[in-house]
Amino acid sequence: MNEKKRIRLGVFEMMNPSNGMPTWTHPEGRGDDWDRLDYWVELAQELDAAGFDFLFFADTYGYATLGGRMPEEVAAHGIQFPALDPMLAITALARATENLGFVVTSPTTVERPYATARRFASLDRFTQGRIGWNVVTGSSQATTDELFGVTETLSHDGKYDAADSFLDTCLKYWEHSWDDDAEVRDRARRVYADPAKLHRVEVDDAYQRSQGIFAVPPTPQRTPVLFQAGTSDRGRAYAARNAEAVFIQGQTIESAAAHVRDIRDQAVRNGRRAEDIAVVTGMTVTVAPTRAEAEALRAEYEELLGRDDAAVMFAGITGLDLTGLDPETRVVDLTTDLGQTLIQRYARQDPEMRVGDILDQFRTKAIRGFQVTGTPEEVADEIEAIIDGSGIDGIMLEPTFGGPAAYRAFIDLVVPVLAGRGRVGAPEGSTLREHISGTPRLAATHRAHRLTASAPAHTPVD
Ligand SMILES: Cc1cc2nc3c(=O)[nH]c(=O)nc-3n(C[C@H](O)[C@H](O)[C@H](O)COP(=O)(O)O)c2cc1C
Repeated sequence: MNEKKRIRLGVFEMMNPSNGMPTWTHPEGRGDDWDRLDYWVELAQELDAAGFDFLFFADTYGYATLGGRMPEEVAAHGIQFPALDPMLAITALARATENLGFVVTSPTTVERPYATARRFASLDRFTQGRIGWNVVTGSSQATTDELFGVTETLSHDGKYDAADSFLDTCLKYWEHSWDDDAEVRDRARRVYADPAKLHRVEVDDAYQRSQGIFAVPPTPQRTPVLFQAGTSDRGRAYAARNAEAVFIQGQTIESAAAHVRDIRDQAVRNGRRAEDIAVVTGMTVTVAPTRAEAEALRAEYEELLGRDDAAVMFAGITGLDLTGLDPETRVVDLTTDLGQTLIQRYARQDPEMRVGDILDQFRTKAIRGFQVTGTPEEVADEIEAIIDGSGIDGIMLEPTFGGPAAYRAFIDLVVPVLAGRGRVGAPEGSTLREHISGTPRLAATHRAHRLTASAPAHTPVD
């Protein structure tokens, strides 16, 4: 008999006024709340009590630009701007919750590996193993580079090559600088840590140079749960090599199933097991006691993003100003060194799709995944069909109007139906990795275990 898969539940958030769509003006929006720590604490507590596995924070240093300048809409309409740094709120959220995991996005382009490793290790200690890292090469790259004074920009694939080296450096510090029993804290012998059990990390490659001993002793998970989100061809290869959880924005069961198969096949070719990678999809659920009410809510929501705002958001992600292109341009002919996920999504959907068609679709769906609308039973049916038909392991709810009302509707109306069908329940274990994969440490098949603290002594040069 086929056992029904437990659906992992997460929430997709950004620490800005709206969460993706500029919805902060709506009565259910959070225009006045988003920068209050208590708002996030209360939200985390609600999700924790409802049995959610994790709260995921997308994040970027940058903002959308057109022609190198911030378009008026960004500030005037609050399009993913302004924003606070979610990492700084995590300890407060963890302290107020018991089981909920937290995933924080941090880019490999402008950060430094050692600082990133130390921050996430500290968070793993403070949260008692409930932290994950969404490893991204980064969106809004143009503005981020300006803010950080970066003048040398890598190609799209080069950024992923650099991200491999970045993550390897972090993994060496997390997994190989301290033996499991190196931290002894022996007062009588006056030995805090056994120096013989510490190892010096040495990295010196085309992208990173870092040497030394990690300052943070082993933490409950050692490595934060590794999430990944870019789904271009190179992004998928990165995920198959490194990620433990991949975040996709599924659009149809068929395309999501193909995506899941592709990533898992690639993982197997890398010596991993298919089940080493959990796939979670973004999902916007609009649920109400009757179908008519749910559809009315959905229609209200679709009115919130104007075409100009949509174009600005699209440009922020891809670097492409669609309004300045011939509407007859084929999507397959677009190129960018910024995010390729969106363009490839449309090109895969229909190779003949034109630039003029994208904005209409993007305006109502933006960067979201499956759009599920209906009564609690209908929504639960569709979620089960998506999970069972695609091989996806979990969903990340995308709130509609920005505030917690959408989660509350889901928690009150849909969770009981899914629970009744044995599809959701309290998270397994106390660490985020246990919630996702059942074990507290990186799988034995992960390449982190084949790395060592030191680089090979010397690569012969002829
Ligand atoms: C679903 C999804 C979520 C993402 N979330 C973030 C994010 O929060 N912050 C960020 O800087 N980049 C984010 N990205 C950008 C990617 O991680 C990646 O850096 C960018 O899309 C370029 O890679 P690609 O061509 O593979 O898409 C996201 C991408 C996708 C597809």
